Amino acid sequence: MDIDLSGRRALVSGSSQGIGLAIATELARAGASVTVNGRDDAKTEAACTTVTDEVPDARVSPVAADLASAAGAERLREAVGELDILVNNLGIFGAKPVLDIEDDEWRRYFEVNVLSAVRLIRMYLPGMMARGFGRVMNIASDSAVVTPVEMVHYGTTKTALLAVTRGFAKAAAGTGVTVNSVMAGPTHTPGVEDFVRDLVGADLPWDEAQRRFMREHRPYSLIQRLIEPTEIGNMVVYLSSERASATTGGAVRVDGGYIDSILP
Ligand SMILES: NC(=O)c1ccc[n+]([C@@H]2O[C@H](COP(=O)([O-])OP(=O)(O)OC[C@H]3O[C@@H](n4cnc5c(N)ncnc54)[C@H](OP(=O)(O)O)[C@@H]3O)[C@@H](O)[C@H]2O)c1
Repeated sequence: MDIDLSGRRALVSGSSQGIGLAIATELARAGASVTVNGRDDAKTEAACTTVTDEVPDARVSPVAADLASAAGAERLREAVGELDILVNNLGIFGAKPVLDIEDDEWRRYFEVNVLSAVRLIRMYLPGMMARGFGRVMNIASDSAVVTPVEMVHYGTTKTALLAVTRGFAKAAAGTGVTVNSVMAGPTHTPGVEDFVRDLVGADLPWDEAQRRFMREHRPYSLIQRLIEPTEIGNMVVYLSSERASATTGGAVRVDGGYIDSILP
């Protein structure tokens, strides 16, 4: 399937590393012009260089802005202008016993993982609807439907993101704009690689470490390996295209079959 996103303007929040950077790279490879975002100027610029190293003719630009705040979102809006493709990838996670999570931390998780997406959708959806085309994707997680006891706050925000997706998709009904969640499963990012090595031993070759981690700690995964960030980028490229015009209001899984369920 040939997908050409030339002429489309895309933003990926929280894309100076990890899954967001891979999504930005794949959108650029498909021809979209892409804004890369993170909080740090130098790191966000370096991420753009990573994209152009991979895709030499990429049209990619950095906008450093802290999207946990309304002011940061406004600054980004001023720098970016209108969009055709909005990928709300920004998300934080970390293990903490649920009885120890105080109000301020709950609020921080909602600000970063839910409100950052809500604000950007509110900013960009009306223009997309008026122009009759738009694609919004919210990067959720298997934790949205299987609440992890070690990070209940994280799982709760991802569950909320599924409802945010459904709600805004309804608001965009009949306009040519689609709004979807992409549910990522355990993915091979630098943070997860460190986590795996901590659990199964730093000395093992990576392939063996990964196999042991999946066997012992993620036995329900049907692919029995971590997902590569590019595989999530591929799904985002498809959902961003005109080919995906009948997919909206739902959650698409790129979880390696990890969630033991027929439906999300
Ligand atoms: N990794 C996994 O296995 C996995 C699995 C399922 C779902 N997901 C979801 O996938 C998404 C990406 O995860 P990841 O592991 O790739 O993340 P990551 O490696 O931690 O990267 C997070 C990115 O967001 C930026 N960022 C952090 N706070 C920000 C803020 N307030 N404003 C703007 N940018 C900010 C970071 O750059 P700076 O720190 O420089 O700002 C970085 O570029 C998240 O929504 C996550 O929940 C991940």
